[in-house]
Amino acid sequence: MDNLNFENVFNADEANIKKAAEIIRRGGIVSFPTETVYGLGADGFNPQSCARIFEIKERPRFDPLILHACSAEMAMELFSEVPEKAEILMEKFWPGPLTLVLPKGQSVPDIVSSGLPTVAVRVPNHPAALALIRAAERPIAAPSANKFGRLSPTTAIHVAEQLGSGPDMILDAGRTSVGVESTIITFHEGHPVLLRAGGLAAEEIENALGEPVLRPKPDAAKPGAEPLPMAPGCLKKHYAPKAELRIIRRGDNVDCSTEYAYIAFCQKPDLPEESFRTVRILSASGKMSEAAANLFYILHELENIGVRRIYAEEVPQTGLGLAIMDRLKRGAAK
Ligand code: TXA
Ligand code: MG
Repeated sequence: MDNLNFENVFNADEANIKKAAEIIRRGGIVSFPTETVYGLGADGFNPQSCARIFEIKERPRFDPLILHACSAEMAMELFSEVPEKAEILMEKFWPGPLTLVLPKGQSVPDIVSSGLPTVAVRVPNHPAALALIRAAERPIAAPSANKFGRLSPTTAIHVAEQLGSGPDMILDAGRTSVGVESTIITFHEGHPVLLRAGGLAAEEIENALGEPVLRPKPDAAKPGAEPLPMAPGCLKKHYAPKAELRIIRRGDNVDCSTEYAYIAFCQKPDLPEESFRTVRILSASGKMSEAAANLFYILHELENIGVRRIYAEEVPQTGLGLAIMDRLKRGAAK
């Protein structure tokens, strides 16, 4: 790897979080841990700083950012309207891997929302992230700290590998615990809509609200009906490793090669060990949350080993399995 630079990686202790907050306040860029993935953060009220995020990530400007708040109170200030159902979700799931997209307040710069009338906000459940936002005394705009379209980072080293010296500072707090991005919810005609499957299971949201969460499908709107809203950043091809990714069912015929890797859900495939360069298991106990936490981590490992193809077994699309399959499908898309 030619752009490796660990000079900007610092342990996320109190003193470094204080320095990081000062960098944010002065308009700089800090990558910081959350419970989902590492974020690439800037002062959410400073349009120039937010513009740097787009440059470092090489992210198209049509793809809006998420604002990170340290409390529901701070988050409320960023919206112009908060439906009661959104308040129920905030109360129940914040801090946590849930992002709410609601009508934006006047304080939010247009670059954050990419000109949309709505803004995405969440309160992350990570002590370093919360301490950073608190010390910066403002919301922090942060997409995942990866190059646009590539694998999301679940360690500080993943950030350094992709972004090098782009961020002024990278706060290191080890591996993230959830491992996939937050679930994004908005409301359409009063009903909850899933904009992105993520670290909070849609079923949990349905239980909390006592109603189904609508799932938009591209091009599936009924004639005459207004289509459900979609997240501009949820592109067909995304979260892609450098290797070719193929999704398979357990037992499918696969080509064996020492240049290929195999990711099983919970049990090694019935093939000789030497059929592949390496075989990885998402969760030996079949626990979906463990599988989600391992997904990007394992994909990064395989990318670094330099395999040419990765076979990944389908997982059941319940709970966090929905987010896992979403990331695999986008990573495998042509
Ligand atoms: O877990 C996470 O959410 C991580 C950590 C760092 O918090 N952040 C993250 O950000 O995944 P990012 O930028 O990689 O993904 C944000 C997604 C994009 O798909 C974007 O299109 C969508 O949120 N989004 C943001 N604002 C939106 C809005 N106003 N309406 C619809 N979608 C929006
Ligand atoms: Mg992202």
